[in-house]
Amino acid sequence: MRPGGALPLIVMLPGDGIGPEITAAARELLDAVGDFDFDERPIGGASIDAHGSALTDEVLEACRRADAVLLAAVGGPKWDAAVAADPTAPRPEQGLLGLRKGLGLFANLRPVRPSPALLDASPLKRDRIEGTDLLVVRELTGGIYFGESGREGDTAHDDCAYSVPEIERIARVAFRSARAKVTSVDKANVLETSRLWRETVTRVHVEEFADVPLDHLLVDNAAMQLVSRPADFDVIVTENLFGDILSDEAAMLTGSLGMLPSASIGDTGGGLYEPVHGSAPDIAGTGRANPLAMFGSVALMLRHGLGMADAAAGVESAVDRALEGGLLTPDLGGEAGTEEATRAVLANL
Ligand code: IPM
Ligand code: MG
Repeated sequence: MRPGGALPLIVMLPGDGIGPEITAAARELLDAVGDFDFDERPIGGASIDAHGSALTDEVLEACRRADAVLLAAVGGPKWDAAVAADPTAPRPEQGLLGLRKGLGLFANLRPVRPSPALLDASPLKRDRIEGTDLLVVRELTGGIYFGESGREGDTAHDDCAYSVPEIERIARVAFRSARAKVTSVDKANVLETSRLWRETVTRVHVEEFADVPLDHLLVDNAAMQLVSRPADFDVIVTENLFGDILSDEAAMLTGSLGMLPSASIGDTGGGLYEPVHGSAPDIAGTGRANPLAMFGSVALMLRHGLGMADAAAGVESAVDRALEGGLLTPDLGGEAGTEEATRAVLANL
């Protein structure tokens, strides 16, 4: 509850492609879970069409005032084509990056816990993924995604920079999240930013979290280990670019990118919650979008953003039970569309 007995305020950002469909499903789920106030706003391509920019100051302000923000997905071929024709045209992804930066959401948490009912839906063998329960902690507001970039003649550059305080704060999030150990991933055999990363993570470990086991992996090796022995990982902490790539890879342990939720948090505010998958323009409007990563994101929002741990656990177990009951969406090789999947989860709530 907010002061004065007002309901928790959730800003909903449906965005593009399948975004509006899975947002409507999330809204049904939230209505079944409790009482909330909703404020729906455009972001990404939808905001470009309406306002000429992927994120307006007004929407950023609305997000700052909210108790939590739930975002679906941004981007699509229409806006890609506009950029191809004119490189200075706005890009939907700028809305997402601007929101993360504007809200100070430096830590992105991507839990990967394959549902027992889906162990055979993954392209990886059951005996490899059984027992997997890991968390990717991705640094979200630094590194190459926010460095200086540009073009000169036939050359382009994107700079990667990290400061000690940026690495310290994400390392602390990782150590605090660990149940068994932390694996820090970098490319310290080549990159200077990675050497600073490793040095800093090691120092934070020694000074503040010496009781949590820590190991270091080079990112290419980590990519390999993630599919050969995923159950051995607990918390993986890594920079923005590596985390983006490794978390898509890790998603396949759950059977589909359509299953992975995420939470983005900062030092203040209720955070931003979004599925890891994109806007899937190829299936937008067909009713075939898998809403389960969105439901997982709703659960993370209830737990981390709104302090409703019981409701969060309720949503997660309803999803598990629906899957045990045979629910399979098209991305998992089944036929259940968004509506059917939503009904199956609501029936198990
Ligand atoms: C993600 C996405 C975004 C990112 C894109 C859409 C900018 O891939 O959340 O992983 O790279 O962070
Ligand atoms: Mg990504």
